[in-house]
Amino acid sequence: MPATLRSMLFVPGDSDRKLNKAAAGEADALILDLEDAVTAERLPFARGLVTDYLRSTRPGGRQQRWVRINPLTDPIADPKPLADLAAVLAGAPDGILLPKTRSAADVVLLDHYLTVLEQREGVALGTTRIITVSTETAQAVLTMQGYVGCSARLAGLTWGAEDLSAAIGAATNREESGDYAFTYRMARSLCLVAAHAAEVQAIDTLTTDFRDSDLLRREVRAARREGFTGKIAIHPDQIGPINAGFSPEPEELAHAQAVVDAFAAAPGVGAVQLAGKMLDRPHLVQAQRVLAMRRTG
Ligand code: COA
Ligand code: MG
Repeated sequence: MPATLRSMLFVPGDSDRKLNKAAAGEADALILDLEDAVTAERLPFARGLVTDYLRSTRPGGRQQRWVRINPLTDPIADPKPLADLAAVLAGAPDGILLPKTRSAADVVLLDHYLTVLEQREGVALGTTRIITVSTETAQAVLTMQGYVGCSARLAGLTWGAEDLSAAIGAATNREESGDYAFTYRMARSLCLVAAHAAEVQAIDTLTTDFRDSDLLRREVRAARREGFTGKIAIHPDQIGPINAGFSPEPEELAHAQAVVDAFAAAPGVGAVQLAGKMLDRPHLVQAQRVLAMRRTG
C-alpha cells in the first residue's frame, strides 16, 4: 500500500520557476499541470519541460510526481491527452490525474493506454497510478459507484466544483452565504463515499483563496473529520497547514496503538475494553486507519 498523499501541489507545467520552487518544498506530491493552467500555445513547451523534470527525478521518491493530462473527451477528434501521455511516460511519472472523467470507462481506457506506453518506455507494467477528478461532469456525478474495482491503478478520487457548475448551466456554485450550494456539497460527499467504496484515497479539493490560512486550516480540519485523507494545494504556502492537518497527533497515534494492542492481546474476541470503554470492530478499523496515516519518511 503506497503512502497516503496528504498534500498534492498543482504546478503549471510551463513554469520552470514554479517547478523548481515546488520541487524544493514539502508537498507529498506535485501535480504538473498540462490542462487548465497551460494555454494551447504553451502546451508543447510544457510537455517538454514536464518530461525533462520527470526524467531528472525517479518514481517512488520523497515527493511523488503526478501529471494532470487533458481530458479523454474524444481522443480521436482531440488527441491532446494522447500527446500528453506519449510525452510524459518517458519520464515514468508516479501517476496521472485525469480531469473531467465521465465514468470508470475513462479510467479503464487510460489504464490501457498506460500499459502500452509503459511497455514502450521500459517502465514496470501497471506501476503508473491514476487519480480521477470525479465530479467535473454531470455523468460523473451519477456513475461514481463504477470506480469500485475498475482498475488496480486507481489510487484516489478528488473533486472540483468549477467545471461541474459550467457543465450543468449554473450561474454560480455558491449560495448567498458564500458556502458551496447543495449540488456541490452532494458531489463532494459522493466523491468521499465512492473513494472509500473503491478503497482508494479521498482527496479534498483546493482552497482557492490561498492568502486565507485560517480558512484553509478550517477546511482541512473539516475534511479530515469527514474521512478525506489529503487535499489539493495551489500555492506553496498551503502545504504546511495541509501536511500538519492530515498528520495524526502523537496522542492520537498512541491511542490508536493502544486500541490495536488491546485487540491483539485478546485474539478471537470481538469486543474488548480500554480504560473502561467498550471497543469493537469499527474502533479497530479506525485505529488501523490512523496508524496507516503515520509517515515514516
Ligand atoms: N507551485 C510552485 N511555486 C508557486 C506556486 C505553485 N503552485 N504558486 C506560487 N508559487 C511561487 C511563486 O512563483 C513565487 O515564487 P518566487 O517568489 O520565486 O517568484 C512564490 O511562490 C510566491 O507566489 P505568489 O507571488 O504569492 O503568487 P503568484 O502570483 O506568483 O501565483 C498563482 C499565484 C495562483 C498564479 C499560483 O499560485 C499558481 O500558479 N497556482 C497553481 C495554478 C494551477 O496550477 N492551477 C491549475 C489547477 S486549479
Ligand atoms: Mg478544471
